Amino acid sequence: MVCLGNICRSPLAEGILQQKVATHNLNWVVESAGTNGFHVGEAPHKFSQKVAKKYGVDISKQISRQFFATDFDNFDKIYVMAKDVLDDVKKIAGNKFDENKIDYFLNELNENTNENVPDPWYGNEDGYEIVYKLIDNTCDAIIKNFKASKK
Ligand code: 4NP
Repeated sequence: MVCLGNICRSPLAEGILQQKVATHNLNWVVESAGTNGFHVGEAPHKFSQKVAKKYGVDISKQISRQFFATDFDNFDKIYVMAKDVLDDVKKIAGNKFDENKIDYFLNELNENTNENVPDPWYGNEDGYEIVYKLIDNTCDAIIKNFKASKK
C-alpha cells in the first residue's frame, strides 16, 4: 500500500486490510510505505488514527517508512493510491519496476478506471471519514476478487 507521506491513506489501507486478512485466515504480509519520505519515523496522522479507532482498527503503532525499489522483490502486489504516487514509484524502483505487480488501489473496486484515492492531507477531518470508507470498501473488494480468482 503506497501513498506519498505514509501517514494518511496507506496506513489506513495497511491496518484495514491486515484486519480483514486475519478474519479470512489468509496468510498475507501487508505493509505500507510512502514515496516522499517527509514523515519517515512518524505515527499516522491523528485523524487517520481517530477514524480507524472509531471503526475498531488500531493503526497507532505504525511508523512511516519510505518506499524502496526492493519492495518489488519482497511483495507480490504493490498498490498505489494515486497517479503521482505511481510516477514516484517508477522513479524509485528504476529497473526493478514491474508492471505485472503494480496497480491502482481503486482498480480493485472499479476495474481499469485508474482512479485516485483523494488525499485528505489537504482538507479537513471529514475527508478522513470519506477516505476510510473508500479504503474499507476497496479492501473488501481485494479479498472478494482474490477469492473469485481462485474458483
Ligand atoms: P498521504 O498524505 O500520502 O496520504 O500520507 C500526505 C501526507 C503528507 C504529505 C503529502 C501527502 N506531505 O507532503 O507532507
